[in-house]
Amino acid sequence: MTEIINTVHDWRKIINTENLINKNIGFVPTMGALHSGHESLIKKSVLENDKTVVSIYVNPTQFNDPDDLKNYPKTFESDFEMLKKNNVDYLFFPKYGDLYPDNYAYKVTESNFSKILCGAHRPNHFDGVLTVVLKLLNIISPKRAYFGEKDFQQYTLIKEMCKAFFLDVEIIPVSTVRENDGLAMSSRNTLLTEEDRKSAPFFSKLLKSLKSDSEITVELEENGFKVDYIQTISGRRFGAVHLGKVRLIDNVQL
Ligand code: PAJ
Repeated sequence: MTEIINTVHDWRKIINTENLINKNIGFVPTMGALHSGHESLIKKSVLENDKTVVSIYVNPTQFNDPDDLKNYPKTFESDFEMLKKNNVDYLFFPKYGDLYPDNYAYKVTESNFSKILCGAHRPNHFDGVLTVVLKLLNIISPKRAYFGEKDFQQYTLIKEMCKAFFLDVEIIPVSTVRENDGLAMSSRNTLLTEEDRKSAPFFSKLLKSLKSDSEITVELEENGFKVDYIQTISGRRFGAVHLGKVRLIDNVQL
């Protein structure tokens, strides 16, 4: 059975009354619209911990584009079915007021790695991500928290934030789950038009190729993609592109 917890107060009560203090808690933060990529994080957490908490919260502070926030897919019923099927113990499903009693007066800012790649194209995005993840980790108090390599910059920033603030949590990376045609799974893929969905796998295919970053950029632009960046750092090639109204990101170890 998956129990829904709506407030910080209710979760604190559960930690105390159900004696979770000595249990290993695994935590998977998400924004919902769950797919097999999320499911692989969830399965790993369920396997490795006594209890698993999944959060679903579409965090407004990390959206720099109001339309992106408004259009973000919401599929609560099927999300909840997936959590039950995977024996997730708790769904944490808070509202803005629960997570932001300060109305976002306090925030976490990283000043190096968060300023390049996606950070250079989405102003303040990582402030929102790091702030909400710090709040969630403080609330849930997990032993381990799981993050996808699909968002490798996010995973790295969160891991380093936990070190910087001495958080007692293991940050576990999980490999990117892909569609059969190579496209990295993403909640935003459902927003692609039929035609754009057909051309989208070209992006991941080129990232893996032996071509240079600038050759790939040119080839994507020629094929109808608007490129934010294609950039290789320490043997990992990162990319972000727009197809129509949808922004796709991906990265591969070369
Ligand atoms: P969301 O995009 O819902 O992703 C939740 C987690 O699932 C992230 O760790 C992400 O990297 C992972 N994930 C998404 N697609 C994946 C795929 N194809 N393969 C493997 N893992 C995948 O990332 C966020 O939400 C938010 O920024 C959040 C961390 C919850 C903070 O609001």
